[in-house]
Amino acid sequence: MAELTLVDDVAVLKVKYPPVNALGSAVRSGIVECLQKASVNPTVKSVVLCGDGRTFPAGADISEFNSPAKANKSPNIIEVIHAIEASEKPVVAAIHGTALGGGLELALGCHYRIIRKDGMVGFPEVSLGILPGGSGTQRLPRVTEVTDALTMITSGRPVSAKQALSKGIVDKVVDGDIVKHGISFAKSVANQPVGPRRISDWKVNAPQDVHKIFDEMRRSVIRTSRGAIAPLVCLQSVEAAFICPTYQEGLQREAELMMTLMTSGQARAQQHAFFAERSVAKWEVPSKGVGYKTAKPVPIRSAAVIGAGTMGAGITMALISIGIPTYLVEQNEKFLMRGVETIKGYVGYNVQKGRTTASQAQRLQTLLKPTLDYEDLRGVDIVIEAVFENMKVKKEIFARLDSVCKPDAILASNTSGLNIDEMAAVTKRPESVIGMHFFAPAHVMKLVENIYGEKTSAVAMATVMDLSKKLKKIGVLVGNCHGFVGNRMMARYVTEALFLLEEGCLPHEIDQALRDFGFPMGIFQATDLSGLDIGYKGRQEQGLIGTGNTASARYRNGQRYCPLPDTIAEMGRLGQKSGKGWYNYGKPGGRIPERDPEVEQLIVDFSNKHGIKRRKIYPDEIIERCLYPLINEGFKILQEGIANKMEDIDIVWLCGYGWPRHTGGPMFYAKQVGLQRIYERLLHYQKTFHQSSYWQPAGFLKKMTLQLANKL
Ligand code: 3HC
Repeated sequence: MAELTLVDDVAVLKVKYPPVNALGSAVRSGIVECLQKASVNPTVKSVVLCGDGRTFPAGADISEFNSPAKANKSPNIIEVIHAIEASEKPVVAAIHGTALGGGLELALGCHYRIIRKDGMVGFPEVSLGILPGGSGTQRLPRVTEVTDALTMITSGRPVSAKQALSKGIVDKVVDGDIVKHGISFAKSVANQPVGPRRISDWKVNAPQDVHKIFDEMRRSVIRTSRGAIAPLVCLQSVEAAFICPTYQEGLQREAELMMTLMTSGQARAQQHAFFAERSVAKWEVPSKGVGYKTAKPVPIRSAAVIGAGTMGAGITMALISIGIPTYLVEQNEKFLMRGVETIKGYVGYNVQKGRTTASQAQRLQTLLKPTLDYEDLRGVDIVIEAVFENMKVKKEIFARLDSVCKPDAILASNTSGLNIDEMAAVTKRPESVIGMHFFAPAHVMKLVENIYGEKTSAVAMATVMDLSKKLKKIGVLVGNCHGFVGNRMMARYVTEALFLLEEGCLPHEIDQALRDFGFPMGIFQATDLSGLDIGYKGRQEQGLIGTGNTASARYRNGQRYCPLPDTIAEMGRLGQKSGKGWYNYGKPGGRIPERDPEVEQLIVDFSNKHGIKRRKIYPDEIIERCLYPLINEGFKILQEGIANKMEDIDIVWLCGYGWPRHTGGPMFYAKQVGLQRIYERLLHYQKTFHQSSYWQPAGFLKKMTLQLANKL
């Protein structure tokens, strides 16, 4: 796990624990053993600490967090760091890849730090629901400004080598072989005294207005953390470095705060999210006997996107950003040019933000190939159709693509819920037809829900999963059903929120409860953002609209139905784009929602008209009624095999729908609440709202609940 070699009078201590050299217990003891050997070897004048393979240690071994015996086994991470710092021979951290969390703490225990110019350092612990508990919160403010330390630790965002140098975190940035540079640096400091290089002996950088800085930062952290406790506790731990008279006392406080976080449900949820995010790449479709281990992707060297609207432009931007030449196809010049302008806007914005250089921007323009002619698509490897949600139009496009594209080209649809098999059926290559459901804005949002149909081949599945990864997105492979995983669950959530309006809530009350739960915005704000016309068209296609606003207006196909969004949309209140929706935005394109008396009166009048006695509904009920039907649908999705595992559902919601990470996703949250409790509440609401069949608990949930009860 750690190896020591001698180069002249320099001992090279290399951590060898692929893939990311995480600091598991064997690695920790390996480092200390090697260090001892170096310290007693009279030839050794200095030591280089580095990582084998792709990176310097990327942190503590997160998989050990569930077994405290392993995680705390001596030497623990602080003991390792203190052993390094105590060395009488200078130790140089030679960083390449990502020195994260415990990895950066290890480097800060060394007497010097050099980094390869493409390296990164950071403290991502906050995203795991914990803090840099290996002395990171005490060391970072000793080497850098308090605001930098606070920002890095509370946000979890890593910094580049160049930034690390300017912030005083590293001593030198180098180019080329990191071990060679480490050795020559170690030789240059071999005879320097190590005492002044021990960071734990340094004073913190405390400016005069340090308390003001903490107060401002505290307010900002509370405002942005949306119910997650780790960011605030991270801040408290950094603050301890300024309050406590000594490093040791600060360290003690850090340990106490770390313990508080480690034992919180939020840390478990966030660590679940970390591993779930990685588990979705290991996709499997048991019913077809295929999976990531056996199916090989084909390379995508060229692509086409049909439709230059918001989704099409975003998908095209994502494709050209990873160097794939992409045809953007429209039916007329006006629409095509609008799409091209949208993409130019995205590129221009990135240049303005310094994320893209002028020459990179130029290259992106050459990769973009606007066209009105399907004939241009003859040689492309994949086509992604991204026109509006109309099956007739989509089928026409798929038939046309089938006749033009080369036989092995993959034909994908960016539908958000329509039947993939229906589209596949109009082609002679149903095995190459698949769904790729991107989320808006498609060049930014992480999630791609990839949907296999009845006849989709394993190669097509592997290819879109591989392409999602290359696009730096998280692909989740799911089965075909109306709405797939995300929108199918979403439908329950939206529907129940509307019933809450009828019974006594106003939009801002529901949205507030959802924001307090941790969503970045409530469901009515979100609907205003995406546009009320989208849902309206969908309901129109399903024949749900137009029964008249009579008593029967509240039922469709034997199910309870709320026509309020139809009325709102018919008033031309389509959301942010028209300046009014559930809220008032002042002007079309406005972004700040204000309560609107017109809408609120309309809701109250609706309840009165239909004899619904309005009542005060408390946040607990709002949360249960919005989220439990969604969770129940998740269990049905698992039962039907549409999703293969709970993690797939959690990632769809965490990465596509703003589900708060500190609750781990809907399925993990259900387990934390207790399946028995969810089951009982579903039964309770089923009795009360028997006209909504979705309260019927999923068979799979019932089975799991009974199994758990039997185990007790
Ligand atoms: N512990 C355990 N396993 C880890 C790990 C860690 N710290 N970091 C990554 N892994 C595993 C992943 O689960 C994955 O396993 P798999 O192949 O079985 O799915 C494998 O390593 C490769 O990881 P990625 O797929 O994420 O590889 P990438 O190349 O895309 O990314 C990375 C590399 C940027 C290092 C990324 O893995 C990452 O961000 N890791 C987490 C870093 C982190 O959070 N460090 C802090 C840990 S907490 C800590 O240090 C506490 C301390 O303060 C006391």
